[in-house]
Amino acid sequence: MDKSKVSQFAEQVFKDLAGTMTAGLAYLGVKTGLFSTMAGKGAMTLDQVVEASGLQPRYVEEWLAGMVSAGYLDYDPDGLTYTLPEEHAYLLASEGTDHFVGGLYYAMPAMLSVAPKVARSFREGGGVRFDDFPEENLVALDLINRGAYEHRLVHPWLEEIPEAVAALSNGGRALDVGCGVGKVSITLAKAFPSASFVGVDTHAASIARAQESAQAEGVASQVSFVAGTLDALPAGDRFDLITACDCIHDFAEPEATLGRIRDRLQPGGTLFVIEPKVADELENNRNPIATLFYGFSVFHCMTQSLANGGPGLGTCLGPARTEALLRSAGFSEFRPLPIKSHVNLFYAVKG
Ligand SMILES: C[S@@+](CC[C@H](N)C(=O)[O-])C[C@H]1O[C@@H](n2cnc3c(N)ncnc32)[C@H](O)[C@@H]1O
Repeated sequence: MDKSKVSQFAEQVFKDLAGTMTAGLAYLGVKTGLFSTMAGKGAMTLDQVVEASGLQPRYVEEWLAGMVSAGYLDYDPDGLTYTLPEEHAYLLASEGTDHFVGGLYYAMPAMLSVAPKVARSFREGGGVRFDDFPEENLVALDLINRGAYEHRLVHPWLEEIPEAVAALSNGGRALDVGCGVGKVSITLAKAFPSASFVGVDTHAASIARAQESAQAEGVASQVSFVAGTLDALPAGDRFDLITACDCIHDFAEPEATLGRIRDRLQPGGTLFVIEPKVADELENNRNPIATLFYGFSVFHCMTQSLANGGPGLGTCLGPARTEALLRSAGFSEFRPLPIKSHVNLFYAVKG
């Protein structure tokens, strides 16, 4: 045995465990508003952070120490002050933007809370159903994706499909499958006021949130949200654009569901697909983003598909398997879109 490799790996072990705790501490920073409280304020004493946040002093003190230890906050031992650097605030205290990472931290406790149930499923099969995740899972999914949808979906993403933009500009119809809490339809409704939108999702609590958001955002007359599968829509309903954002890999019956999506497209209509950005080959997925996605897969996407009797395709479907799946569902055109993203792959699918 190579002792130096043991030492090297021991370092990795502690780095990874510390990373998990850092994610937990950062979750608290997002959830309690501590990052936002400190953003743009420069150096702050403990008392100043406590006063500005209205939180319990001893918790704040220990949290500040942990975040200094993890390198998230700067610390001045002479002045006993803590600073959230502007560059860190850009990612941690920027809710509503397309560069906010708070949703990823938010997802960690929700996903890891089902770890014992997932471990049981390794032996017994099945999995953890979407309904069995804590409520915060929905908040996390919304926080992870909302900024990108609100700031990038219409421009520049959809511009890659000019025929869809033309149809929606002329009062067309779009369907969002696996719509979750509805931000795709709501964003599109604001951009295309003469078009109409339907969102469908099997998760009733997500649909309830989507309906509330549509009301709050003033687009309820343009957007309807339906709890159930595609079969819950009127038989003849057809759409110029169907979006399937971050959900194909979750389906319990992927091929059949994609076949039903195809049946719902108008002639010449397009299915816009967003899937996580991973390589087809495992050897090319040795990087932090892919590791994160394999975790999302085991603790969320794969397990909830298996819980519903599905194949558990998992988060890391990759482009080749995505294309094969769509072609086996009957689509004849599969076009990877040249949209830049660290975390997503984009496809326009037709035929
Ligand atoms: C990871 S979430 C993505 C939600 C949303 N599209 C987004 O990008 O934020 C996947 C969603 O797919 C939904 N889903 C899974 N299977 C479905 C099916 N067969 N029909 C409709 N929705 C489904 C889940 O309930 C969940 O809300």
